[in-house]
Amino acid sequence: MAKIVIMNHPLIRHKIGIIRRKETGSRDFRQMISEVAMLMCYEATRNLKVVDVSIETPICQMTAKELEGKKLAVVPILRAGLGMVDGMLTMIPAAKVGHIGLYRNEDTLEPVEYYCKLPKDCAEREVFVVDPMLATGGSASAAITMLKEKGVRKLRFMCIIAAPEGVERMKADHPDVDLYIGAMDERLNENGYIVPGLGDAGDRIFGTK
Ligand code: PRP
Ligand code: URA
Repeated sequence: MAKIVIMNHPLIRHKIGIIRRKETGSRDFRQMISEVAMLMCYEATRNLKVVDVSIETPICQMTAKELEGKKLAVVPILRAGLGMVDGMLTMIPAAKVGHIGLYRNEDTLEPVEYYCKLPKDCAEREVFVVDPMLATGGSASAAITMLKEKGVRKLRFMCIIAAPEGVERMKADHPDVDLYIGAMDERLNENGYIVPGLGDAGDRIFGTK
């Protein structure tokens, strides 16, 4: 069974509080999403393997550590996942970036795929799928399925706000995928929005409503 990690760092909690406020405008919203992603990335990479390397400091030879393989990729789910990419790359600048385009049909709440472009060697990489919202879990589950169909085996999913329904869906569909969650909310409302949530993440990031 995979890990489910809910962040309890005070900086993450504070910044998520700002993101949730309805008066927070797009500029600050984007900034906070990016900063939360950066802090969450620190937690989500905690158990990456390191190996010994022999280096020379200006003083002497020593055995230092470096990331094993260095093969990471970040895959945002469009659109809202794009808001988390800069923060992730601040922490892991050598990561490659793939994109998966999915939107929720507003009536059925089912994800509709419209784009997929991944690094060529994605199957050899440890992949971090990012999306600020895990609501019904339909989009995240579909994105992970798409990646598994391309041969990706090492997968983690990161979201800023999750509903219990989405977590249950991910546990059922992808019990092998670790989940990193900024804040766990109460429920979904009748329109499939997370309560209390933050509203529509894509619209708030891109100012489209
Ligand atoms: C939002 C969000 C997730 C999805 C979550 O995207 O960014 O991708 O909804 O809902 P689910 O867990 O019920 O699938 P949306 O479909 O609104 O598209 P957008 O990012 O282009 O606005
Ligand atoms: N997508 C969003 O952007 N917000 C929600 O609350 C649910 C799905």
